[in-house]
Amino acid sequence: MSKFDRNLGLRQLRNAFGTFLTGVTVVTCREESGIPRGFTANSFTSVSLHPPRLLICVDKTAESFDVFTQSKGFAVNILAETQIEISGLFASKRADKFDIADWSESENGNPILEGVCAWFDCKCDPVIDVGDHIILIGRIESYDYNGNMGLGYVRGGYLSLGLEQSAVEAVGGDADVIVGAIVEYDGKVLLIENAVTGELHVPASGLDGTSGSLGKLQNYLTQLGIGISLSVLFAVFENEKTGQQSIYYRAKADSDLVGNKFWSFDEIPWQRIGSDAIKIMLQRYIDESKRQRYGIYFGSDRDGAVETLR
Ligand SMILES: Cc1cc2nc3c(=O)[nH]c(=O)nc-3n(C[C@H](O)[C@H](O)[C@H](O)COP(=O)(O)O)c2cc1C
Repeated sequence: MSKFDRNLGLRQLRNAFGTFLTGVTVVTCREESGIPRGFTANSFTSVSLHPPRLLICVDKTAESFDVFTQSKGFAVNILAETQIEISGLFASKRADKFDIADWSESENGNPILEGVCAWFDCKCDPVIDVGDHIILIGRIESYDYNGNMGLGYVRGGYLSLGLEQSAVEAVGGDADVIVGAIVEYDGKVLLIENAVTGELHVPASGLDGTSGSLGKLQNYLTQLGIGISLSVLFAVFENEKTGQQSIYYRAKADSDLVGNKFWSFDEIPWQRIGSDAIKIMLQRYIDESKRQRYGIYFGSDRDGAVETLR
């Protein structure tokens, strides 16, 4: 148990809040001059059906704080699972967010983003001031939704339940699988050395012939002293020769603890990695992380296609 103690810093409390799995939204409005503004928020809560009300918490340090507190209305866009990049874009301080994203406007003129699962257009109730945030309460005037799956967020990382489902369906229910992860910390990836052969591989469960699982992988990483905070699907493939199925995630480690060897991208000793499939997967990971634009590979160890998240 952690007693709240300001001197310990707020990290622990933030971590505890972060265990709550949420969706991801982009909240938008217009400046008085008409310039569109928006930021990523997971503090969305549906408050009341009758009358229809929702809320969003806005950090007082956000650049758009003043704009939102003074605005007569705002829209909440619920992001779809393919919109990780949109979430990153609106969590940034870029001035050209609305030049990059596709959007149209609501009847009240608030930006509605293309491809979202749902949106709500609201007029503002008086804001409520609470500590380092304010609560914006929206009176919902119009809304729409579709069948798209929403993007999830937990422990500082994104989660896509629809894509996880595709992985499970792709490998079939009773197949033995290898479940592994590319674990990154600060631009370096974790490679584990096989004590017998000296070969390097990314951490995985199921390499010993038993069926792997995400739970087993997490236990294994915990034994290594590594907490992972982000697990998004990265590759699902079948070994054409053996029929062995593999599922790999990408994950961010909380730290690079002593005893675990993390390799910076340009120092990876490729000749020591035994599996060609892992080499190709790692190479794609490095390429994609440079562009911060990741995809998911579905196929075999020889041939397949990368589905890119928008
Ligand atoms: C997944 C996610 C959820 C976030 N949720 C909130 C939130 O609920 N309220 C908030 O004020 N900021 C939240 N942020 C941070 C803002 O998006 C971020 O500070 C952004 O830069 C604010 O934009 P601005 O400074 O241009 O206004 C979140 C960021 C991410 C990535």
